[in-house]
Amino acid sequence: MIEFSNVSKVYKNGTAALNDVSLKIDDGEFVFVVGPSGAGKSTFIKLLLREEISTSGIVEVNGHNLTNMKRRQIPKFRRSLGVVFQDFRLIPNMSVYDNVAFALRVTNVSSKDIRRRVPYILGLVGLAGKARSMPEQLSGGEQQRVALARALVNNPQVIIADEPTGNIDPELSYEIVDLLNEINKCGTTVVMVTHEHDLVSQFNHRVISIAEGSVVSDGVDWRSR
Ligand SMILES: Nc1ncnc2c1ncn2[C@@H]1O[C@H](COP(=O)(O)OP(=O)(O)O)[C@@H](O)[C@H]1O
Ligand SMILES: [Mg+2]
Repeated sequence: MIEFSNVSKVYKNGTAALNDVSLKIDDGEFVFVVGPSGAGKSTFIKLLLREEISTSGIVEVNGHNLTNMKRRQIPKFRRSLGVVFQDFRLIPNMSVYDNVAFALRVTNVSSKDIRRRVPYILGLVGLAGKARSMPEQLSGGEQQRVALARALVNNPQVIIADEPTGNIDPELSYEIVDLLNEINKCGTTVVMVTHEHDLVSQFNHRVISIAEGSVVSDGVDWRSR
């Protein structure tokens, strides 16, 4: 479960990015986080990943209080989450297979399990035939599916995606969200930031709208508010 209790974030330069945000996301939910540029969406994500720390209030993720988490606990905590970014962040000189396998190698998974798990996950995201390709040989949509495979391969409880469709064609964006939707049906919590309202309206999920650092609406029938 994810819980923000009266969370505010003021950056060092004085910018107030989030103001007194309180919300709860239950295990197994699929939540869109929407709002204009500069609203505080990425700050929300960075607080969830413990890339930033709240200035006040408490952020809790999967039973961890991130506000007082020790530095040495952070890497293990982050590995319990699957993260996808707008710019894919693949390793350019590694094949598709190795980009995904790498996420397992850093967690001491046996080579036998890696050889079993990587092809399975690549198949799941529809890239079974691309295992030997290099990232630069793939379309944006395919690269994002590799990033998604990498995020999924450790079986995270939660997938966190910050504008994952921001750099891909609209037709392929739907596929990415559809894939996240399938993953969610298997029980994984999904938190996805986007400013593409057309995309959001194609799925019947909870939508948290943020504007100027505050939650301005939260619910499934978000367009009527
Ligand atoms: N590291 C930072 N230092 C100072 N200000 C920041 C930093 N990151 C973001 N901001 C500011 O915080 C506000 C919210 O930014 P952000 O969370 O990135 O919004 P969004 O993702 O919704 O576009 C913006 O005014 C932005 O300029
Ligand atoms: Mg952002």
